[in-house]
Amino acid sequence: MSSKFVSEKVIDGSKIALEIREEVSKSVEEMIYKHSMKPGLAVILMGDDPASAVYVRNKERSAIEVGMKSETFRLSSDTTEEEVVELIQTLNANDKYHGILVQLPLPDHINENHVINNISYMKDVDGLHPINAGLLSAGNPRFIPATPAGIKEMLLRTDNNPSGKHVVVLGRSNIVGRPVSNLLSMKGDGGNATVTVCHSRSSDLVHFTRSADIIIAALGIPNYLGADMISEGVVIIDVGINRVEAPDRKRGYRLVGDVNFGEVLQKSSAITPVPGGVGPLTIAMLLSNTVQAARMFNHGD
Ligand code: GUN
Repeated sequence: MSSKFVSEKVIDGSKIALEIREEVSKSVEEMIYKHSMKPGLAVILMGDDPASAVYVRNKERSAIEVGMKSETFRLSSDTTEEEVVELIQTLNANDKYHGILVQLPLPDHINENHVINNISYMKDVDGLHPINAGLLSAGNPRFIPATPAGIKEMLLRTDNNPSGKHVVVLGRSNIVGRPVSNLLSMKGDGGNATVTVCHSRSSDLVHFTRSADIIIAALGIPNYLGADMISEGVVIIDVGINRVEAPDRKRGYRLVGDVNFGEVLQKSSAITPVPGGVGPLTIAMLLSNTVQAARMFNHGD
């Protein structure tokens, strides 16, 4: 059993996110004061997925709170791909918006890659454009996707530097699994980890999770990681946000991660809760990327 008190182990993502938002807020003030420019974020929300609507509302609210301009463009679920691309091209050409984010997932009739490829790579604050994904995998990142960037900040700010550690990533998505494995294995501060990426076709996955110093769970399966899959003292970062039915709740559901929190808490040395763990960091890093985009626009690089 890890010797820390339970309350010391649980990483307070909201608190770290607040620190980062305060830093971003100062940068925004400085940009307004020195350059008379306000960083602007455009968010495109297509369709009526209730979870996406909540995320987008939080992103817009947080952007405005740190002093940015933020606007959400809501498109109905029957909007055509051409119409979405047309909106993106208008936003690419609009100097008020330095960052553009298309909330995923998109409805089935839309080719996600085609849409992302149309975002100007200089405004791609999600870091999903192939040029930005390529720069990250080449070890020379421009925009780092917000969730991986948040995970790195969280590890550094909680004294869990991944350097030299075995990090096991569960999931190979373009939003989390792939970029976080590139980020943490990169040379430099917050990198230098030995990373194993496990996924749905991995055989003997438990062999890897048991040998991990740090586990990043991003597979989208509620309560997947259990106590028998981990070793004593592991650091667990839970990226999952899954809605599970809860008839006793007013909303009818509750949020759980990809980690069986109650089961693994004792063995872990640090762990993120859901909600209140990685989620708030994702938003904070998106805002940080938007300031970066505005700076790049200003310097023309
Ligand atoms: N949907 C869930 N997470 C994300 C994210 O980080 N970016 C975008 N664009 N959509 C998401």
